[in-house]
Amino acid sequence: MNLHYETPLVESELISQVAGCRVYLKLENVQNGGSFKIRGIGYHCTKEQGRGCERLISSSGGNAGIATAYAGRKLGMSVTVIVPQSTPNITRNRIEKEGAAVIVHGKTWNEANEYSLSLATEPGNAHIHPFDHPNIWNGHSSLVTELNSQLQGTKPDALVLSVGGGGLLNGVVQGLQSSGWGDVPVIAVETNGADSFAAACKAGKLVTLPDITSVAKCLGAKTVSQRSLDLIKEHPIYSTVVPDKAAVDSCYKLLDDHRLLVEPACGAALAVVYNPHILDDLQQQGKLPTPLRTVVVIVCGGNCVDIELLSKWKKELSKQDELKMV
Ligand SMILES: Cc1ncc(COP(=O)(O)O)c(C=O)c1O
Repeated sequence: MNLHYETPLVESELISQVAGCRVYLKLENVQNGGSFKIRGIGYHCTKEQGRGCERLISSSGGNAGIATAYAGRKLGMSVTVIVPQSTPNITRNRIEKEGAAVIVHGKTWNEANEYSLSLATEPGNAHIHPFDHPNIWNGHSSLVTELNSQLQGTKPDALVLSVGGGGLLNGVVQGLQSSGWGDVPVIAVETNGADSFAAACKAGKLVTLPDITSVAKCLGAKTVSQRSLDLIKEHPIYSTVVPDKAAVDSCYKLLDDHRLLVEPACGAALAVVYNPHILDDLQQQGKLPTPLRTVVVIVCGGNCVDIELLSKWKKELSKQDELKMV
């Protein structure tokens, strides 16, 4: 049973004008559960139920928890989500609205995850990791199968996505490889202060960040998955880090341009097409083709935000800029 549905792919004329190429938006923010997460997590939970599990234990500061709660409700399984203290109330409420129990544990996702692993050892319980499992990558790969049929097999010149723990990246690359699109470059975007993939690419080994300081808490895995690091040897993946301000500004721009409210974790990917010098730089380095015709951005989700939070972040970030100028 599929718990996700086919999301729209829309061509954005407004963003295309800014970016200087045709920009398509894959609207995962209107996906069941409000993000792409249900693709992989829905598939994983269905498999776990098939193995005889009755209860789902998730560790997630946001969208993965909501997706697990959604999957549990649809599959008739009970769900407990362990969230870190950094998870905003709106997200906790959204998880509870799906009928799941919420337990707050630890400062960051890593501590919440440790605790969830200890709960999952009880018989009948399944641990639903937010990003690091082959079932999750399999499920996420459906996004590319869909994209392929929506673009009628026409290969895009590049694909832009956000990276937290790397589950979306791993699934999308798997999908590209199995669709015969193994040469489509992927621009893998993080924000400053949640950049564990960039740190790993630079070091050539996994790096654990001391803390998550970005406002894009949903990208806040201190260590990216090993699979994501391995993939850089198999696929053209270009790690890109943007400031929080660019991510938040891009959320505002999408709201103005398309009347869609998304969170900074998603604004990070949008920042690439709203700041075309990023594309130009990659072209100059020979990483993207010239001319660049078509770019697809995965609009990954928007649960962990409301208009008040977004304006609070905008104010805080412009204050930081003013202080820097003093
Ligand atoms: C909205 C959003 N975008 C992107 C990501 C990154 O996904 P992944 O952890 O699979 O890299 C997340 C992770 O929670 C997310 O919530």
